[in-house]
Amino acid sequence: MTIKITAEQLSMRFKQRVLFHIPSLSIGPNDAIYLKGDNGVGKTTLLKILSGLIKPTTGVVTAPSDTWLQRLFSRTGRKGVIYLHQSPYLFDGSVYENVAYGQRFERDATKDKRAQVITALRMVGLETLADEHISVLSGGEKQRVAMARAWILKPSILLMDEPSASLDQESIERLVTMAKDLLERGASLVITSHQQNALTALCNKQWLIHAHQLTEYANNERTSSNVVVLKDKSHDVKLKLR
Ligand SMILES: Nc1ncnc2c1ncn2[C@@H]1O[C@H](COP(=O)(O)OP(=O)(O)OP(=O)(O)O)[C@@H](O)[C@H]1O
Ligand SMILES: [Mg+2]
Repeated sequence: MTIKITAEQLSMRFKQRVLFHIPSLSIGPNDAIYLKGDNGVGKTTLLKILSGLIKPTTGVVTAPSDTWLQRLFSRTGRKGVIYLHQSPYLFDGSVYENVAYGQRFERDATKDKRAQVITALRMVGLETLADEHISVLSGGEKQRVAMARAWILKPSILLMDEPSASLDQESIERLVTMAKDLLERGASLVITSHQQNALTALCNKQWLIHAHQLTEYANNERTSSNVVVLKDKSHDVKLKLR
């Protein structure tokens, strides 16, 4: 489940408005990246491009797991890469059915699938609500269902778009448990958030989108105010004092 995604000359423009131009970037293997930037700089757009849900204006994203189908139809989503939406799409059904939904193409035996769903529901603290209809859940509980559904698929790269926006401390801790589990299995994470919290503290790198550019920093909260780790085009890492 360790994969690496790379991108070259990635840019996105809506009509005449340029959102960003990124000469090169890479995620993984086993990265945890905190993606920051003001409202509207293009964080969600970048995550959707990396997951294969939308096509960039210029540039290519390459993942070893890409199939010919993915290359041909660039909006089918990338294998092993899951984009966790800020307001997750959950369908009309029970909490259990929503979590199990992701498994429909998996080959595991039915009893293993059931055990996985129950484990996932326990991890997010929703096992007692398994039979409830999804519509009765609060916003934060729905976010936890979406995380459980993503975790069950054991993505190689999980792109989490403001996962903690409507979550209390306990819910954030539950997402941290799942995120840590995925990291230990060799997955990579990208997390956007406007607030630092236990999830962003898991990250070892920061990406900042500012003035249409993406800069990579070390995510060391104690030193990030004066030490900057920049990548140049040839991927050499340089240390600079601000
Ligand atoms: N399909 C689209 N057509 C036109 N403009 C779009 C489209 N999708 C996004 N945009 C614009 O691109 C900009 C970046 O949007 P995006 O959602 O990526 O920002 P963001 O960094 O995630 O912001 P936030 O912190 O508020 O979530 C916004 O100004 C948005 O209006
Ligand atoms: Mg966004």
